[in-house]
Amino acid sequence: MFAYQIKQYGKQEPLFLNEIAKPVLSENSIMIKVHAASLNPVDYRIRNGDAKYVLRYSMPLTLGHDFSGVIEAVGSKITQFRVGDSVYGRTPVTGSFQEYVVVGENDIAKTPKNLTLVESASVPLAGLTAYQGLFDWLQLKEKQSILILGGSGGVGHIAIQLALLANAKVYTTASKEGKAFLQQFGNLEFIDYHKEKFYEVLPQVDAVFDMRGGDELIHSFDIVKAGGKIASITSIPTPSYAKSANMNWFYQMILRALTVKMHQLSRKKNIVFHSFLTQSNRQELQKITELIESKKLNTSIQKIYPGSEINTAMKEISSGHIKGKIVVDFTNKAKEA
Ligand SMILES: NC(=O)c1ccc[n+]([C@@H]2O[C@H](COP(=O)([O-])OP(=O)(O)OC[C@H]3O[C@@H](n4cnc5c(N)ncnc54)[C@H](OP(=O)(O)O)[C@@H]3O)[C@@H](O)[C@H]2O)c1
Repeated sequence: MFAYQIKQYGKQEPLFLNEIAKPVLSENSIMIKVHAASLNPVDYRIRNGDAKYVLRYSMPLTLGHDFSGVIEAVGSKITQFRVGDSVYGRTPVTGSFQEYVVVGENDIAKTPKNLTLVESASVPLAGLTAYQGLFDWLQLKEKQSILILGGSGGVGHIAIQLALLANAKVYTTASKEGKAFLQQFGNLEFIDYHKEKFYEVLPQVDAVFDMRGGDELIHSFDIVKAGGKIASITSIPTPSYAKSANMNWFYQMILRALTVKMHQLSRKKNIVFHSFLTQSNRQELQKITELIESKKLNTSIQKIYPGSEINTAMKEISSGHIKGKIVVDFTNKAKEA
């Protein structure tokens, strides 16, 4: 089967089209013929080698963390899906830019009936991240106020819609172009990050969802009310994440040591702070499918590239200036990248 892979880590390292063995189906797994995949910042971070000391991958390595496709085969213990179902989901580790993926029942959900398979590929990782940030970690409630730091990207544009659906008061940081893109989603308050510092102009809010990290994350602590919450997807996961992901005590201790400064800051300010990694969750992805089908949630695709242009797509996502999502369509026979 085909796979788009890298031979080694490096910022300029291109993906190349390789022929590799088909993955093996087990009794608890599902084999999916991949039609399309979205690109996420984690893909270029892995390519760059940013995670090479933590995630020990061998080369050549298939990139990609989410996909849409059609079920080709199911293991004997699978009860929720059948051969021929159109599904989307995330791969627990890198490897969705290839012809077939094998995943578990919890990694996928049926695609929304009102999206094509290729469009559906834009949803899983960004959608789950937005959903988990707002509802699992921040437990956002009606009428609460929230700042979404970096709202015009893949995760942000979905988080904004979900927060508005929850009847929250939503603030976001965006450029002029980001504002023009996001206004279609409803009534938002914008802070142009080129002109203003959000921590100098915003009132105190109940919650911050951080997609930017660095100083912006640190300054978030200045604008959250005492007793409020911050959830981040840009910094080292907190022990609260380790616990929820059932990591053993050793990893929990390591994350505790690595996040001690954030813990001190959150204690000093009386703000609950979580940093998390997105987890597979069939029920949550199913909920996202329903929201899209009922037209309460939209995904926005900046551009769909054919597989042969995957390196152009990688260059584009690496710019950090995508509005919404970028998708790669593998349905035409894969060609050399
Ligand atoms: N922990 C996890 O499991 C997890 C999961 C998903 C994503 N992430 C991380 O979350 C972050 C966001 O992911 P994403 O997919 O949404 O990224 P993305 O789509 O690449 O975000 C790009 C967007 O960020 C905007 N932006 C750039 N600089 C900004 C600034 N200083 N302030 C406000 N907005 C700014 C850009 O708009 P302009 O160009 O107009 O400024 C663009 O629309 C990434 O770091 C990603 O690695 C983590």
